[in-house]
Amino acid sequence: MAQLWGGRFTKETDQLVYNFNASISFDKKFYEQDIRGSIAHVTMLAKQGILTEEEKDKIIEGLLGIKADVESGALEITDEYEDIHSFVEANLIDRIGDAGKKLHTGRSRNDQVALDMKLYTRDEILELDQLLKGLLEVLLKLMKEHTETYMPGFTHLQKAQPITLAHHLGAYFEMFKRDRLRMKDIYQRMNYCPLGSGALAGTTYPLDREYTAELLEFAGPTLNSMDSVADRDYLIELLSAMSTVMMHLSRFSEEVIIWNSNEYQFVEIDDAYSTGSSIMPQKKNPDIAELVRGKTGRVYGALMSLLTTMKGIPLAYNKDMQEDKEFVFDAIDTTKGCLALFTGMLKTMHFNNQRMEDSAKNGFTNATDAADYLVNHGVPFRDAHGIVGQLVLYCIEKNIALDDMSLEEFKAISPVFEADIYEAISMKTCVEMRNTIGAPGKAAMEKVIAAHEMYLNVE
Ligand code: ARG
Repeated sequence: MAQLWGGRFTKETDQLVYNFNASISFDKKFYEQDIRGSIAHVTMLAKQGILTEEEKDKIIEGLLGIKADVESGALEITDEYEDIHSFVEANLIDRIGDAGKKLHTGRSRNDQVALDMKLYTRDEILELDQLLKGLLEVLLKLMKEHTETYMPGFTHLQKAQPITLAHHLGAYFEMFKRDRLRMKDIYQRMNYCPLGSGALAGTTYPLDREYTAELLEFAGPTLNSMDSVADRDYLIELLSAMSTVMMHLSRFSEEVIIWNSNEYQFVEIDDAYSTGSSIMPQKKNPDIAELVRGKTGRVYGALMSLLTTMKGIPLAYNKDMQEDKEFVFDAIDTTKGCLALFTGMLKTMHFNNQRMEDSAKNGFTNATDAADYLVNHGVPFRDAHGIVGQLVLYCIEKNIALDDMSLEEFKAISPVFEADIYEAISMKTCVEMRNTIGAPGKAAMEKVIAAHEMYLNVE
């Protein structure tokens, strides 16, 4: 048992208590951030004359040595320490002696852990942002390739109106772009440094908090030392933003699963991203999409867990807050993993253009356009709706698409139809007529694609 306290105790900690209390098994994840924070802290202590230059240099050298040894595997972070802070400090004292004992001057583990977690999360937010960007790039590439790939657009999972694959994928572009904006927003709001808040009430040392904030690339120091050690809002915001990312990935996964099914065959997931069955030799399963959909629950769970943990905690620091870590780490790793896997799956997926277009045709997705044709020829919309309803019924009976009817058959139901009806209800026309901004028409789509391109170039 290696812990940073014990002076006022007359008995050893019970082993079970020690194990229950310890956090090293998971907070070892941010040893690098702990060391980075400590280096900034001692640099500031020396600038303020609280440590000598020599002490500072010795401590920094010791800390960098610990970091290098952990990274090379020469030094293992083991369970004999209570937490990562004790591990670093004990190793430092082992290496450099008494100077090491000065590292913790003017600092508490409460502001230290608040800093470490912020540094860790901040790095991870940047990674999440880059993964989202990678997904957006794949989406944009596919959008450019598929502005004329017609497919049914659905409502109620019933074929509704024709769209293009570019338009469908463009909807996801919007979602993941908003997810990036949320990451950026959280980053900016959380980017204030808690170091120097002490246990809860600041310290009596003349610390320069602006300076440490600057060294660690924060926008500035936090402004209330109690809030600094007790604030976990940014983690809740991040869990919420990641839950939304997962919700988007899960919806997309569900569509990929449907599109990849034997009935639809709109897409074929690449062999590298599919799995087989141990008993049914013909099977090629969309396990990756299913797992992404499944893992969404874990991330939602983490959000609920932390909200619940935080709801009854009086100011300032309480040990409950140690519970912020495992769920957040797991949620970050899960979301990052899912983003990477999903992007790879999408990039390698084969799209069955003809199948999608045939499906749009055979699902009467051009029925609204047939009614619009009649309206353009003077038929009141309500009557046109009824006439097209009869056409659809006729086609269903004959098991054909509207486009397959002869002109005589059209005319038998309404004499208003002329030979140009075929052109009017072609998938191309149906889509091309929809050119308001945000609609699937090629001209509208190309404007949006150009805007997305510009966004990805700068952000
Ligand atoms: N392991 C603790 C945590 O994660 C570090 C802070 C400990 N502070 C304390 N007063 N016991 O929250």
